[in-house]
Amino acid sequence: MNRRELLEWVSSGLATAVATVVGLPGVGYFLGGAPRESSGESQFSRLIKVKDLVPGRPMMVPVMGQKVDAWIQSDQQAIGRVWLVRESQSGSTDQTVRALSSVCPHMGCQVQAPSGGKSFVCPCHRASFGADGQRLPDPKTGERNHVPRDLDELECRLVRDDETGDNWVEVRYEKFKTGLDHRVVGA
Ligand code: FES
Repeated sequence: MNRRELLEWVSSGLATAVATVVGLPGVGYFLGGAPRESSGESQFSRLIKVKDLVPGRPMMVPVMGQKVDAWIQSDQQAIGRVWLVRESQSGSTDQTVRALSSVCPHMGCQVQAPSGGKSFVCPCHRASFGADGQRLPDPKTGERNHVPRDLDELECRLVRDDETGDNWVEVRYEKFKTGLDHRVVGA
């Protein structure tokens, strides 16, 4: 192999290597679809002990899980937040806990609980919801609530830890599309 052939061989090898590196994400795109964010929504997440919830006072709790952003996967990241409302004073598992998504179904702002748990309010366009997540008219003007559906209630269960005797709140966290009058899973 003379010097010229050697140079051609080296530059051809380099070009192939560069093309492979540059092209890999594109291959991933076509094989695995567009970059997406996964929230692991189909599993129950253990959030908090029931005894740490004050009856009648909503508490916002983060939901941790696996997050996939483009092609980077991270474990134990905050994938969302839920409002938990404990509805019983009892210390047994027959008490109920309601789990509501903190995402406003209008355009996705985080709803707040400014009045000590009697209602939720979305700060973006001043929408009000009852403690059960149902839409309420504007408390000042009486105007109809413009949000297309009530706050999204999430599947929630209480699980007893036999070792410690603690009752835990577990929630199946899901994200729903905003702007629709019915629930469709998806960010
Ligand atoms: S985003 Fe909540 S009322 Fe508009």
